[in-house]
Amino acid sequence: MLQRTVRRQNVQIGKRRWRPIAIALLPVLGIALLYLLLPDPGPRIRDLPILDTELYPIVGSLRAPGFSIPLVPGASSSSSDGRAAQLGRKLFHSSDLTPNGDMSCASCHASPTPLTVARPTLPQLVNLRFAHWFGSSGDTDSVGAATLAALEDPTHMASSRLFIVKQMLGPWRRDYEAVFGNLPGELLDPDALPSAGLPAPPPLQWEVNVAAAGLASMGDSHLLDSIISKAIGEHLAPALELSRRAFDRAPPPPGWVAAYEKMSPAHIAAVNQVYANVGVAIGSYLRGLVAFDSAFDRFADRWRENIPAAAALGDGFTDHELIGLKLFVGPGKCLSCHSGATLTDQKFHNSGLSQLGETIMGGRAVGSVRALTNPFNCIGPFGQKLRREASDCADITTLNTEDIRNLGAFKTPSLRNLAHRQRFMHDQRFTTLETTLAYYNELTDRAAIGQRDPALHPLGFTGEELEALAAFLNSLSSSVRDLNGVRH
Ligand code: HEC
Ligand code: HEC
Repeated sequence: MLQRTVRRQNVQIGKRRWRPIAIALLPVLGIALLYLLLPDPGPRIRDLPILDTELYPIVGSLRAPGFSIPLVPGASSSSSDGRAAQLGRKLFHSSDLTPNGDMSCASCHASPTPLTVARPTLPQLVNLRFAHWFGSSGDTDSVGAATLAALEDPTHMASSRLFIVKQMLGPWRRDYEAVFGNLPGELLDPDALPSAGLPAPPPLQWEVNVAAAGLASMGDSHLLDSIISKAIGEHLAPALELSRRAFDRAPPPPGWVAAYEKMSPAHIAAVNQVYANVGVAIGSYLRGLVAFDSAFDRFADRWRENIPAAAALGDGFTDHELIGLKLFVGPGKCLSCHSGATLTDQKFHNSGLSQLGETIMGGRAVGSVRALTNPFNCIGPFGQKLRREASDCADITTLNTEDIRNLGAFKTPSLRNLAHRQRFMHDQRFTTLETTLAYYNELTDRAAIGQRDPALHPLGFTGEELEALAAFLNSLSSSVRDLNGVRH
């Protein structure tokens, strides 16, 4: 009895406690109900007051360069470029270029054609004929020179030019001579060449002002401490320690440099000539690959000056992509770096991404020094041949390796053929286009080294706007065409 009374009292006390809370919640529930019943509170895509007459020439500037560009007139697999490209295609897919025989260029880059889908982690090797610099720091100035660097780079193919030349003298001799004529006489004695060897990598470092500016601008105090304590321990200037880290590269296997240096100058010259031709062949193949048949290009083709843009929509380029294009051109200000048919200004900018964990990358400040000292660059003895077209080499002769704006700056990448990518940015840190755009939307991190480019500003786009921007970027993907007429 007593128990029941106590319980009833408790229930009543409970009721009394809840009543004011329920009363307080009523207005909240009311507002929530009203919110659900009322129409959409406002545009989640801002007004984009860009006139068709303003947009039309911009679309023209982003459109594929037609195929009136000098794409090897009458190119076919029987022209000399076509034959070099045919050999290049075979070499690109062959594992004969590394001593272990376990890797080809295609192991990392996949076969660019006939696949329409790139290996998703690396940028697709397409439209390279329009690029000025190769690699995210622009270490090389032609596709051929980039190929030769990839072959000997310990983190890429880890091969050596002597090994590759021996392959041309052996199993590849017929293929090689069919394109480049007889091998140099000096090389025909099989015992004259060691089985592996390459020149010593040049000792590279920053000018003191660049290294000091790098040190002064470092955003991560933990990393800065580690540089300073290492420098103190080794009685080095901290700027020198930073420079050392920036150019750090695994040394070639023991004996390779000595074997190369023991050769006579005539042998060295002949080896380099054959090695450069391997770059010419693979470079010709890669320069033939273009991807300009995207939904955006077809929209641009349909659009005539005297009709509204809306009348040219359809076929993968709808109103949604058009809004994305307007956001890209207008409030996004993306065109200030991603311009022209490959959507890159071919320049280098600091977007604040030079550090990943303990690794710091100097970006263009490193790449410009490498490009200038690369013996296969435009002004080197094989430069013109590797470029496959005449050049005054102004890119190299006017290169300023002391420009401190190069610190932490990376190449503006092309925005074509991103649709199947699973990694973005030079260090592949983002796994989706959405996270990449979210980075631009907020831009919260400080630049790890150097200063973030002032042209970058947090976008503050809504979710719907980011979706439209991504839709536009995805409309720039297309299948790959081979202009050299290489048989696949
Ligand atoms: C172990 C994987 C790997 C192998 C093997 C490899 N690459 Fe690469 N390659 C890469 C990576 C990673 C990059 C991006 C480097 C950067 O951003 O600086 C790259 C970049 C390039 C670029 C520059 C692309 C651009 O848009 O600037 C070219 C050209 C290239 N590779 C050609 C080749 C060729 C030719 C071969 C074979 C001789 C080859 N690669 C072998 C991983 C590889
Ligand atoms: C100041 C020049 C600049 C501006 C402005 C700029 N970008 Fe970039 N963008 C870059 C650079 C440089 C990179 C490469 C950064 C890196 O590798 O660390 C990049 C990378 C990207 C990538 C990744 C591509 C890849 O291959 O990994 C996308 C996507 C992109 N930008 C889209 C945009 C969009 C959309 C806008 C406008 C909202 C924009 N960018 C504005 C310079 C710029």
